[in-house]
Amino acid sequence: MSEQRLRIAIQKKGRLSDDTVKLLKACGVKVNLNTQRLIAHSENMPIDILRVRDDDIPGLVMDGVVDLGFIGQNVLEEESMMRAVANEPTAHKVVKELAFGGCRFSLAVDNDFDYQGVESLANLRIATTYVHILKRFMEEANVPYTSCMLTGSVEVAPRAGLADAICDLVSTGATLEANGLKEVEVIYRSTAVLMQREEALSADKQDLVNRILTRIDGVQSAKECKYIMLHAPKANLEAINSLLPGSERPTVMELAGNSDHKSIRRKLYLSFTN
Ligand code: PRP
Ligand code: ZN
Repeated sequence: MSEQRLRIAIQKKGRLSDDTVKLLKACGVKVNLNTQRLIAHSENMPIDILRVRDDDIPGLVMDGVVDLGFIGQNVLEEESMMRAVANEPTAHKVVKELAFGGCRFSLAVDNDFDYQGVESLANLRIATTYVHILKRFMEEANVPYTSCMLTGSVEVAPRAGLADAICDLVSTGATLEANGLKEVEVIYRSTAVLMQREEALSADKQDLVNRILTRIDGVQSAKECKYIMLHAPKANLEAINSLLPGSERPTVMELAGNSDHKSIRRKLYLSFTN
């Protein structure tokens, strides 16, 4: 890998992969990701894309192995807590909050578990990859439990008899459903962010990063803001506006040859939370 090329880590397969690749494409980064290769080289920019497990991304950035990483806030926070305990480097910059990757970090139990509140988990075993965030939550709730750290397939732990409950990331909920589990407590809400290594990049690389950040802004604001246009009876104007989220006033225009109806135009800001 050349030092001159910007190195970006993305999740190989999982919740963030598709949206990250879409965003890179929308930013004009041409790269062929239809191979199994760990590293893909962009055809039109001095960029190398590393495809790894999401859980490895914060560490790669904090160790300066890659320059940028697309990662969920929860995974970043967990890695920061883990490294702080181990006295390993944690420095990094979050350079952009992203409008995708929304997920919850939630406690889940078997569908037939009689869950009455966090106290129902007292002295039980909870499987998770994100032990530090779980520990913080359980300590605040003052509920003693046993932690069982699994780096993958957390959702099969209850059925396999490894744990009584799990704490894992939930995006669509498909994984929980497929494993006969129900989400009972949301302990963290997260979206994706773009993180950059702490150590300064060369001027050329930083220029490229700045260009990418500007493009991300363009892509995100184009997505976040939609116009709606409709024709409606004059008498219903206020009622219609009150149904639309936000406090923006609509633009109202006369319709030629129709005095009862108006043309209404309103900007809508869409939120990307789950
Ligand atoms: C997370 C989590 C579940 C899945 C949940 O995996 O561990 O497997 O997402 O998503 P769903 O609610 O849409 O089914 P992640 O993307 O972090 O992949 P990994 O387990 O390989 O790290
Ligand atoms: Zn993961």
